Amino acid sequence: MIITVASFKGGVGKTTTAIHLAAFFQGQAETLLIDADPNRSALNWASRGDLPFEVMDEWQAGQNSRAYGHVVIDTPARPVPADLAALASSCDLLILPTTPDILALDALVLTVEYLKQIQMCGYRILLTAIPPKPSRAGEDVRAMLKEVNLPILEAGIRRVAAFQKAALAGVPVYAVKDPRAELGWQDYEAAGEEILRDFSQSLSVDPGDLPDF
Ligand SMILES: Nc1ncnc2c1ncn2[C@@H]1O[C@H](COP(=O)(O)OP(=O)(O)O)[C@@H](O)[C@H]1O
Ligand SMILES: [Mg+2]
Repeated sequence: MIITVASFKGGVGKTTTAIHLAAFFQGQAETLLIDADPNRSALNWASRGDLPFEVMDEWQAGQNSRAYGHVVIDTPARPVPADLAALASSCDLLILPTTPDILALDALVLTVEYLKQIQMCGYRILLTAIPPKPSRAGEDVRAMLKEVNLPILEAGIRRVAAFQKAALAGVPVYAVKDPRAELGWQDYEAAGEEILRDFSQSLSVDPGDLPDF
């Protein structure tokens, strides 16, 4: 399965999501994370520590990606529409992470409007960095998106500081010593399982389907 993580806004949890979905999918089959962001955030994450899957830039990935059961692609902060079109036409699923705040939602609306106009794979919105109660931001945004029939994953990712520690240490969040790290990992496991349930029919990578970078 080829999963691309994208959005028109930076800082919404794309790289964090790509790393943790790749960690989840590695538990199912050999998984490759392609870091297609020129900032190389995922490659830097990998270089600081140890990740349980391979991370390559889009050039290295080239023919190598054929050998993997799953491919997760992390993308630049602000793809131009043509980039998004290329990404959307060459994956099985586009994951659009969004934080529950108005600026992220504005960017999400733009992305979804754009996706409607192009030929694309299926997409799901993933709410990330959901603040703890008493904030209702997560529930409110979920209700709003459902109201307008946007496809949002039931799984959502809590805001836990362990994700920042994980990025610093170069490991997945489950390897961080923090009382809330396990909760963060459980959220991504739930998202991964939901994706597998929804898309269980197309689990192998067709090498011809990989995007031209
Ligand atoms: N669920 C979360 N809880 C807390 N912090 C998070 C969470 N997801 C991402 N972050 C933090 O938010 C910032 C942006 O995340 P990142 O994954 O780099 O986003 P993007 O790739 O979209 O720019 C980083 O500092 C990251 O550690
Ligand atoms: Mg990033």
